Amino acid sequence: MSPGYDPAMAHGGGAAESERIERVLRGSLAALGQGPDTVLQHLIAQQQVFSHVPEPAIDRLVAALGVTRAQILAAIDFYAFLHLTPRGRFDIRVSDNITDRMLGNAALMTQLCAALGVRPGEPRADGRVTVDFTSCTGMCDQGPAALVNGLALTRLDAGRIRDIAALVEAGTPLAHWPQGFFAVSNNVQRPGLLLADLEAREAGLARLFAQGGPAVLAEVERAGLRGRGGAGFTTALKWRFCREAPSEPGHPDKVIVCNADEGEPGTFKDRVLLTAYADLVFEGMTIAAGVVGASTGFLYLRGEYRCLLDHLEAVLARRRARGLLGTGIGAGAGPGGGFDFDIRVHLGAGAYICGEESALIESLEGKRGITRKRPPFPVTEGYLDRPTVVNNVETFLAAARIAEHGGYWFRSEGTDRSAGSKILSVSGDCARPGIYEVPFGTPVAEVLADCGARDTQCVQVSGAAGVTLTPDEFHRVLAFEDLPTAGSFMVFDRSRDLLEMVRNFAAFFAHESCGFCTPCRVGGRLVQDLVEKVAAGAAGSHDLDELHDIAQVLRRASHCGLGHTAANHVLNTLEKFPHIYRERLRRTDYTPSFDLDAALAEARALTHRDDAGSHLPADA
Ligand SMILES: Cc1cc2nc3c(=O)[nH]c(=O)nc-3n(C[C@H](O)[C@H](O)[C@H](O)COP(=O)(O)O)c2cc1C
Ligand code: SF4
Repeated sequence: MSPGYDPAMAHGGGAAESERIERVLRGSLAALGQGPDTVLQHLIAQQQVFSHVPEPAIDRLVAALGVTRAQILAAIDFYAFLHLTPRGRFDIRVSDNITDRMLGNAALMTQLCAALGVRPGEPRADGRVTVDFTSCTGMCDQGPAALVNGLALTRLDAGRIRDIAALVEAGTPLAHWPQGFFAVSNNVQRPGLLLADLEAREAGLARLFAQGGPAVLAEVERAGLRGRGGAGFTTALKWRFCREAPSEPGHPDKVIVCNADEGEPGTFKDRVLLTAYADLVFEGMTIAAGVVGASTGFLYLRGEYRCLLDHLEAVLARRRARGLLGTGIGAGAGPGGGFDFDIRVHLGAGAYICGEESALIESLEGKRGITRKRPPFPVTEGYLDRPTVVNNVETFLAAARIAEHGGYWFRSEGTDRSAGSKILSVSGDCARPGIYEVPFGTPVAEVLADCGARDTQCVQVSGAAGVTLTPDEFHRVLAFEDLPTAGSFMVFDRSRDLLEMVRNFAAFFAHESCGFCTPCRVGGRLVQDLVEKVAAGAAGSHDLDELHDIAQVLRRASHCGLGHTAANHVLNTLEKFPHIYRERLRRTDYTPSFDLDAALAEARALTHRDDAGSHLPADA
C-alpha cells in the first residue's frame, strides 16, 4: 500500500515549506515532464503532500509548464480533490452512496466528527484533520467506506471509527495504521465466461503478432462486442474508425485510453478487474494499439482508486520488462509484431463527469472536465486532436479474451443483440454483495436469487443514472435490448424508504453537474430542492407536477449524458412508487375558514351579473 503523504512532513511554512514544494515539483517534473497536459498530475502531487496546492507551487507550475494561472486556478476549482487552502493533515472523506447510507454511514460520520471535535468540511483549528462526505468511492460491497488522504478505508463500524479518531489524535502516519483498515476484497461471487480463467497467457497478443491487426479486428467484429461502459457502441466499429482516421500531419500518433473513472454510484467491477485481471486489461489495450496503430496509451484511474496505483505501476513495469510494452513489441513474431506502445496511468481528482469520454479527454489534457461538442468524435479528434479510442476496462478485458479464443467463442453466450457476458457490481440488501458475471439475457430475478436477496422492494439497475425496477419487472433481462447496464445493481428490500434513495441521487447529480449548461446546472439543483421539500413534508401536489416537468427538461435539454439521465430516478419513482411522495404531501383537504365565492355576492349584485364567469370555479 502506498502510504499517501506523511502528515508529519506537511505544513510549517517559510523557507522549509518552499524547499519542500520545490522538492515535490522536481519529483513530479522528472516523472511526468513539462507538457501542459500534465497540469492535473502535478497539482495532484502537490495536493497529496501539502493537503492543498500552495500558492508558490502555482507560480512555479505557470513558469515550468507554460500554462496560464487562470488554467491552474480553474482546474483547482473544478476537481473536488484539489484545494487552494489546507485541508486537515488527515483528510477524511466518508463515502456517501445510498448503499453507504443503508449501512449506517451518517451515524459513523456524526461519531467521527464528535470524537475529533470537527464540523463536516471544516479543517480543525490546529490543522490536524478534516472530515467530509464524498461521492460513492466504489467500495459498495464492503462499506461503509471512506478515504483518508486518498486511500480507501473499508468496513467501517463504531469500533473502527473510535480507533481512527485515536490514530488521528496521536498523529500516527498512515503507514503505521492497521493494514486491515485498508483491506479491499475482490468479492468475485460468480465468475463466468471472462473471469473464470485467471491466467493471462498473452495468447491474444500472440495472435495479433502472428496474424496481424485486420485478423484480430475481424474476430472482435465476429464477437459482436459492444462497449461495457454504458452506451454499448460496437467496439470493432470504433477501432475501425480510428484505424482508418488520417493522422494529424506532424502528429502521426494515435491514442488508446482505458476509461477507469468508474464513478457511477454502485459500480465497482472495474476496481476488481484492475486488481485481479490487470494484465488482461493491459493486454487488451495493447491489442487495440496494434489494431489501430497507436503508440500512446493512458489508463484514466479515478482518484478514489489511488490505492491501486502502486499495483498498476508494478504490473506495467513487469510488462515492460517482458517486452510487452515499449518499443518493438513482438518484433520478429509475425506480421503484426514490431510496434511501439506504452501506457501511462493518469489519476483523476474527484469528478464523475470525467467518466464521459470527451470530458475525460479534456482532463487528460490537464483541463477541467467539461464535455466537448460532438462531432468530431474522439476516434478522429481526441486527445490533443489525435485519433483516440476510449473504451471501458471491461471492454478491453473482453477484447483480450476474444483475441485469444475467437469471436464465435464469445458469441456462445448472450443474446443476438447482446453477445457475451456482463460483469455486475451487486450491492445493497443481499447476503452476498460482490461481482457477478452473467450471460447477457439473464433475468433480474436470477441475479437476486444468486446474491441472496430477500423481500426485495426494488432494484436500481445501472446506477443512479439507470432504471428503477419494481418486483413486477424482475423477469426483465440484462441486455442492451431490455435493460442496458454499465454494471451497477443495487438492491433495496421492503424495509427501505425509497425516498432516501431519491434524495441521495438528487444530491449526487446536483453536486456532480459540471455547470456548463443551464438545464443541468440549475435543473439539478431545483430537483434536489423539490425532493428535499417533499422529504420535509412541505410540498403540495403542484410541487410534484413541477418536479416532473423539471426532470423532463433535464432529460431533453441538457448538453450531455449526465444531464440526460440525472433525473431518471425521479421520473421512475414518480411513476412506479408514487406513494413515497404522496404520503408526505402537505394536507390539502382543509376546510376554508370563509366562503370566498359567497363573499363576492355583493360585487355580483352591483354589476348585475350572475353568470358562470362571475363565480369562482368549483375546484378553486
Ligand atoms: C456522465 C457519464 C459518466 C460516464 N462514466 C463512465 C465510466 O466511468 N466508465 C466508462 O467506461 N464509461 C463511462 N461513460 C461512458 C463513456 O462516455 C464512453 O461511452 C465509454 O467510456 C466508451 O467505452 P465503451 O465503448 O467500452 O463502453 C460515462 C458517460 C457519461 C455520460
Ligand atoms: S449536462 Fe451540461 S452541466 Fe450537466 S454535466 Fe453535462 S455539460 Fe455539464
